[in-house]
Amino acid sequence: MIRKCLFPAAGYGTRFLPATKSMPKEMLPIVNKPLIQYGVEEAVSAGLDQIGFVTGRGKRALEDHFDTNVELEHQIAGTDKEALLTDIRALIDRCTFAYTRQVEMKGLGHAILTGEPLMGGEAFAVVLADDLCVHTDESVLSQMVALYRTHQCSIVAVEEVPLDKTASYGIVSGEALDESLVRVSAMVEKPEPEVAPSNLAVIGRYILTPDIFDILKRIPPGRNNEVQITDALNEQAKQGAVLAYRFKGQRFDCGSIEGFVAATEHIFRRDYAPGANYPTKQDR
Ligand code: G1P
Repeated sequence: MIRKCLFPAAGYGTRFLPATKSMPKEMLPIVNKPLIQYGVEEAVSAGLDQIGFVTGRGKRALEDHFDTNVELEHQIAGTDKEALLTDIRALIDRCTFAYTRQVEMKGLGHAILTGEPLMGGEAFAVVLADDLCVHTDESVLSQMVALYRTHQCSIVAVEEVPLDKTASYGIVSGEALDESLVRVSAMVEKPEPEVAPSNLAVIGRYILTPDIFDILKRIPPGRNNEVQITDALNEQAKQGAVLAYRFKGQRFDCGSIEGFVAATEHIFRRDYAPGANYPTKQDR
């Protein structure tokens, strides 16, 4: 049973400067909802309601977002604007939130290791909020949690990327078990296309077994001189303990301007355009 989800959220978001100069990149909105909230909603959809954040300097807005704002709520109480807070209130009621800070930026693996005190000795999920995933039936994380129930090992979500993009991702290779599952034999962080073992790229959804922390403590820094989660997973993969899952759904790389705009268009059409369920401008 997985109950915990970790959100590494210490990065600077330099690709979005100046917007991210004094605002966490995870607070950038897709239409009217910050990226981090989409991530937490996905965790909850998978039954994970113990939420941990690894933050850093300048990230206090994250804590404030997952808290009540008494003055604002008093101000809009009884008006039609109140409905706009329904979803975030539901998350605050349902989840517990714990925070720890990454003091030095030493890579995603190091950020995850910083979250160890929040995750305890259980298997847990990791969501990178700048990968926004949409789905028709079941969220990507709930698809993965269902797989974990059967396989009880680390699982990474993967999708095929164009070969010239391998240097932006962790890349996996291994043996196909069926059309959506690969038993990973090796993982490499951001290989150049010439040396990439495949074009199957890890996206920002992971389920990790807790032995990952001991591995993270002992592996040397890898690419960019940073501690890479990909390298730690590679150690587990050598024991046959990692699955790569070709998820159902669509992922937007909201860490890039193009992906961010594409996600905005998608969510606008889905939730906000005339005919969608969300309150339209006239209703607000
Ligand atoms: C990180 C990981 C990489 C993974 C990617 C998914 O890279 O290091 O292995 O493929 O997230 O979004 P980043 O995008 O933080 O550079």
